[in-house]
Amino acid sequence: MSSVVSELEAIRDEAAAAIGSAADPGALEEARVRYLGRKARLVQIGRTMKDLPIEEKRLVGPALTAIRAGLEDLVRARGVELEREAEAELLATDRVDLTLPGRRPRRGAPHPLVEVVRSLEDVFVGLGYEIAEGPEVETEWNNFEALNIPADHPTRTDMDSFYVVDPLAARSALLRTHTSPVQIRTMETRQPPIYVVAPGRAYRRDETDATHSPVFHQIEALAVDEGLSMADLTGTLDAFAQGAFGSGTRIRLVPTFFPFTEPSAQLEVSCHLCGGAGCSQCASGWLEIGGAGMVDPAVFEAVGIDPERYTGFAFGMGIERVAMIRYGITDIRLFLESPQQFLDQFRGLPLVR
Ligand code: DAH
Repeated sequence: MSSVVSELEAIRDEAAAAIGSAADPGALEEARVRYLGRKARLVQIGRTMKDLPIEEKRLVGPALTAIRAGLEDLVRARGVELEREAEAELLATDRVDLTLPGRRPRRGAPHPLVEVVRSLEDVFVGLGYEIAEGPEVETEWNNFEALNIPADHPTRTDMDSFYVVDPLAARSALLRTHTSPVQIRTMETRQPPIYVVAPGRAYRRDETDATHSPVFHQIEALAVDEGLSMADLTGTLDAFAQGAFGSGTRIRLVPTFFPFTEPSAQLEVSCHLCGGAGCSQCASGWLEIGGAGMVDPAVFEAVGIDPERYTGFAFGMGIERVAMIRYGITDIRLFLESPQQFLDQFRGLPLVR
């Protein structure tokens, strides 16, 4: 047998072993370059073939072609094999156990104040009222002047305000000190009959303590129509109190003063704990929750509604106050700070007992 052919066979066996044992794509490529690349021994033999005697050429030529083709096949096959192995390994390490239970996010719940606002809105919508809204940054006109609170009025000291613009500037803006400016906005843009409630945030420069917070919530109601009287106000407040605090709740109107209503009253409800007999929460049996009254004709004049033709009533209440009474909460700061343990107590709690 030709010595060149036996050399070829030796190279084939060595190359086949190297290809077969290549452990990764890098090693396989190295073997390919070594045995099939431009400087490989097989290539050199191919180049010197022309110097061989004719009979040997007849043997070496086909052998060389077959061996090269055979080695190329081996490289390809080993490549496919290595790819499969890598894939299998990836699948094994990357395995996801779909039967494991997922990580559940904590279930959220509406903030107790949101719940109270919604329940109060429900009561009013049931009485035929619409929901109105106003911005938290207001003009002095809407927050004070149009509500019959002139610049020198003492009420302005009770409602110490956060001014957004210099209070001495011609037109200054402030964070509204109550939701009553929504009354003005509504009457300036609509004609009676008007029946609206406006829940929302209000701001005062109060020191924070158990019953005061510089940010708090109110709900305002306004009714303007022909022939509305104090009897309508009382009936509405009565229906509201039953809906908000439970049937059997009584109301009491205590005369007081507000610049935008005449007459004006402090709104009180019978204590739901003692039913009005007097207990540690209420002392007198009654709890103050807001103010009310018949719209002052000066307010109608400010917004261009004829006070000879229309009358109206309004009231405003503190939402935190209602929530504190309803749930027996003794510190208003809990609503703002909202610690998780506090919030957890309201999950799924019935609103009116
Ligand atoms: N705006 C008043 C306050 O914040 C509450 C109030 C009193 C609103 C009487 C009214 C009302 O609509 O008629 O103290």
